[in-house]
Amino acid sequence: MTDQPSRFERMQQRYRSCDIPWDHELPPPEVMAVAERLPAGRILDLGCGAARASIYLAVRGWQADAVDFVPEAIAMAQERVKAAGLAGRVALHVGSVTDMHFLEEGYNLAIDVGCFHGLQPEEQQLYARELARLMRPGSICLLYAHCGHNAQESGPTGIARGLVESLFGPDFEIAHVEYGRTIMRDLECDSAWYELVRKEGSGSGFRDQEAKIGVRGR
Ligand SMILES: C[S@@+](CC[C@H](N)C(=O)[O-])C[C@H]1O[C@@H](n2cnc3c(N)ncnc32)[C@H](O)[C@@H]1O
Repeated sequence: MTDQPSRFERMQQRYRSCDIPWDHELPPPEVMAVAERLPAGRILDLGCGAARASIYLAVRGWQADAVDFVPEAIAMAQERVKAAGLAGRVALHVGSVTDMHFLEEGYNLAIDVGCFHGLQPEEQQLYARELARLMRPGSICLLYAHCGHNAQESGPTGIARGLVESLFGPDFEIAHVEYGRTIMRDLECDSAWYELVRKEGSGSGFRDQEAKIGVRGR
């Protein structure tokens, strides 16, 4: 047994004390740029926090589902969505990105700014499966993550390209990677923006279905 607070409790405490340095009015420029490029559709905002990405996109005609496991983050998002008059365009969900059974397939864009890289390995696998289930063929996932000590390594709160390839590779092409450096208060680390494109057909979701109906030999 450990008396350490869990990751959820630490995150919840941060929202309770408004210690959320990533929270700005606008989403990162990379999110704004992808929104410029694509026609409005359905967006999935993973680990949405106060839903800045969903709000930005909803103003531009997108329909958003935003998910965060901290109720205080969703309450904050709720206030902002209401204040922006976007309640009909942004649906907010308290839940884990590892199990989004309350959502159905059909998203054109998924955005994750800083959620995936904090998950445990088994949670990352569940997340990848959920993403494969929910995203339409040809859809885009934009994933911002801290890397390990350098861009080649995964670490306790960071991921490297190899991990992204092995987890998402069966269902997504890595279309683009942009390495950079993140400096936020006392944190300084390598980071990367991954752009993934959902493949047509035979991803992990399909393999699951095949397993259920008894397809063998792969
Ligand atoms: C660094 S914050 C970024 C918030 C938001 N994406 C933004 O850019 O403002 C990461 C968010 O992921 C959420 N999160 C972490 N693990 C999660 C999980 N398993 N399910 C849902 N949300 C999670 C946290 O509560 C937190 O709001």
